[in-house]
Amino acid sequence: MLNDFTARLIDEFRANAGQVGGPFENSRLLLLTTTGARTGQPRTAILTYYPDGARTLVVGSAGGSPKHPAWYHNLLADPEVTVDLGLFSYPATAVVLRGSERDEVFARLVEADPGWGEYQKKTTRAIPVVALEQRPGPPPGADRGFGEALKIIHAAFRRELSLIRKEVATSGTLGAQLRINCLTVCQGLHFHHTGESTGLFPALVQQHPELTEVVDALQVEHDQIAVLLGELERLVGAPEVLDQIDELIAQLNAHLDREEAALLPYL
Ligand SMILES: [Fe+2]
Ligand SMILES: [Fe+2]
Repeated sequence: MLNDFTARLIDEFRANAGQVGGPFENSRLLLLTTTGARTGQPRTAILTYYPDGARTLVVGSAGGSPKHPAWYHNLLADPEVTVDLGLFSYPATAVVLRGSERDEVFARLVEADPGWGEYQKKTTRAIPVVALEQRPGPPPGADRGFGEALKIIHAAFRRELSLIRKEVATSGTLGAQLRINCLTVCQGLHFHHTGESTGLFPALVQQHPELTEVVDALQVEHDQIAVLLGELERLVGAPEVLDQIDELIAQLNAHLDREEAALLPYL
């Protein structure tokens, strides 16, 4: 059974597309739905997560209790899970990290958030780290149409970059996990723009030749943002990184606004 606090947090998460207030305002949270090992019923937990390239990491701390959390037992029995990031959800396969990989990743997460280390001190079990790997399928929000999908993915980038900006501004030095957060969003943006440049843009121009000029201008912005992303990847860890992130956020948000204004009527 969920306690009241958790149930309320999940309700708030669902009502606000993944944004919650209070102590978790600047946390990355997801809803993990597993299949109950004993009941066979869907069970949803709300967890802090960490970006890690193509996968997402969660930690089975259970507040440092002697027992693993129920969701961990469930995914050992059935690793097929659903991940809900608030803006969109996707099916994933849960992979438990083992041995030195688990230890290295856990150390990185403790560096990012010493609370995990405090939980580990309270228990003799090794706190599990689980990677959630997205299963192949339609892109986020595709079931709600191309226009909705574009808005959702843009909102996710805006949200992630503003979180990273806060994290970089408050941490004197960039820890290993924060560098990974940065590189993950760079990869995600690169992937998104490549998809638009090679798929969406040519398809739109073919259907609507009057869009040629506006799509050309959007493409120029993709090229400019690609340069900024390259610079950012190079500067991750250097003191100038905050300025670079501010520049990226300014240019990217302007691009996303223009792209939505120009293309949404055609999607
Ligand atoms: Fe774009
Ligand atoms: Fe876009």
